[in-house]
Amino acid sequence: MNELESSHMVDRNVELAEEILCLKRQRGAVILAHNYQRGEVQDLADFVGDSLELSQNASEIEAQVIVFCGVHFMAETAAILCPDKRVLLPDINAGCPMANMITAESLIAKKGEFPDATVVCYINSSADVKAESDVCCTSANAVKVIESLHTDKVLFVPDQYLGHYISTKIDKEMILWPGFCPTHVRILPEDIVYLKSEHPDAKVIVHPECRPEVIALADEVLSTGGMCGFAKQTDAKVIIVGTEVGIIRRLSKENPDKKFIAASQKAVCPNMKRITPEKTLWALQDMAPEVRVTEEIRVRAKRAVDKMLDIGRVDQELASLS
Ligand code: 13P
Ligand code: SF4
Repeated sequence: MNELESSHMVDRNVELAEEILCLKRQRGAVILAHNYQRGEVQDLADFVGDSLELSQNASEIEAQVIVFCGVHFMAETAAILCPDKRVLLPDINAGCPMANMITAESLIAKKGEFPDATVVCYINSSADVKAESDVCCTSANAVKVIESLHTDKVLFVPDQYLGHYISTKIDKEMILWPGFCPTHVRILPEDIVYLKSEHPDAKVIVHPECRPEVIALADEVLSTGGMCGFAKQTDAKVIIVGTEVGIIRRLSKENPDKKFIAASQKAVCPNMKRITPEKTLWALQDMAPEVRVTEEIRVRAKRAVDKMLDIGRVDQELASLS
């Protein structure tokens, strides 16, 4: 892009942001955005966070309209939690390939093989799959949620790598579904080894969706929200970040004195990048595409999500007492 084109883009984004802000007020809407969203989309949002923070936020929000700048399962989780609100996903094709690696039918068949296992689903799953699960978790609370269960046997779906990571932290039998994130598997151990050799003092933080060989090389294994918290409190000046590249922008903006290096430039989630300011404006203009869940599925899926949120609340209450 030449200088003229890039200044035109800046002007267009400012124009779009003004239109979106105005329409957002008229509609009584809030914009929630995930940490992997494009920078210009994050800048439009009322709240930017990880899957857990976004679902907590959606469950507490007063606004009647939520524009969810993320992927389908995230908007669907908001629709599960807030049946009286309209949840808009600016591009209805922004899905999560990992979430699509399991269906309710295939989960029901697997449950038949392990009738005594407690079913824990990663939030990166459809409402239908959540409805077939006992409890949900995110990357931020997975170990805590599973530790708190009164069971020795867990059927964990759909992310085998998050499941494997949890199994190294707890003493329970874990049956793992063979799903994975096509973006995080692009981060290779050799990427970390090379960057560590270039920056020997750097800290390495990675997402638990990474391969076990990558996790083994990390100083910290964190959700995207956990990474934002770590970045603020660490003394390290250089941090190698093993997750989707979109998070680098927020980390750098919030910590201008530190250098953040993406572990791999190949770790791009094309679905997250489907959302643009223009599509966000159209969603507010058309009040569409809307994400809905049938009442029968919603009620059953909500049980699994509520159970996760309740475990988090008890944990927060205990922390405030100590
Ligand atoms: P976080 O909940 O850590 O933001 O992760 C969501 C996700 O989709 C990771 O790929
Ligand atoms: Fe799904 Fe991976 Fe994209 Fe996260 S980064 S939304 S897990 S495909």
